[in-house]
Amino acid sequence: MNASVVLRAAATPASPALVLRPWRMEDVAALVEVGRDPGLRLWADSGVDDEAEAAAQWVRAQQRGWTAGDRLGFAVLAEEPGSVHGQLVGSVVLKEATPGEPAAEVGYWTAARARGRGVAPRSLEALTGWAFDTFEADGLERLELLHQVDNPASCRVAQKTGYDFDSILPASPPAFPHDGHLHIRRASA
Ligand SMILES: CC(C)(COP(=O)(O)OP(=O)(O)OC[C@H]1O[C@@H](n2cnc3c(N)ncnc32)[C@H](O)[C@@H]1OP(=O)(O)O)[C@@H](O)C(=O)NCCC(=O)NCCS
Repeated sequence: MNASVVLRAAATPASPALVLRPWRMEDVAALVEVGRDPGLRLWADSGVDDEAEAAAQWVRAQQRGWTAGDRLGFAVLAEEPGSVHGQLVGSVVLKEATPGEPAAEVGYWTAARARGRGVAPRSLEALTGWAFDTFEADGLERLELLHQVDNPASCRVAQKTGYDFDSILPASPPAFPHDGHLHIRRASA
């Protein structure tokens, strides 16, 4: 898969424009800071104590996902005037977009300091449009979004981005101790 794709989301009154691009090793320092949020647990189960090494391993895993084509993860950066880099504010990912398969899955998180400004829905909208543009000809018909019922903020992201509620998913501990929601957005939506 082409790992040079860059997506964009326009600025809003509450938030600067967003640039979405595949993860790079230069993101590690910012990722260490963002990953200290216990709500994200990005490398909590990695068994690696050194957080810089854990973050580097996490970025390398995203890069392997692009090489294999089964996990297409984007760092979300807020554009900063006068800076070529932008500030890391979140992540979106397209999982298992396989030729001939009608469904793939999306995921996302927003850095704690950037929440409440529409970063996740704007990033997810950009990812969704790109996913259907890129994979619909290969058979992609729908994108699935899963969250636990104790995550109303994620449910709001789904609603605001046109991912309709589909069904309740039973809990699957230990990874998913609570029931979940399956939301779906179809190619034609
Ligand atoms: C869920 C999450 C991605 C939402 O991202 P976001 O960029 O803040 O999205 P939004 O700005 O659209 O806010 C979504 C909801 O979060 C809540 N919210 C608002 N401000 C918030 C804040 N400062 N902090 C936390 N949640 C806030 C509101 O319920 C909001 O819904 P509303 O727009 O109807 O008021 C983010 O909270 C997050 O990363 N959580 C931890 C990881 C996670 O749950 N990922 C999804 C797994 S399925």
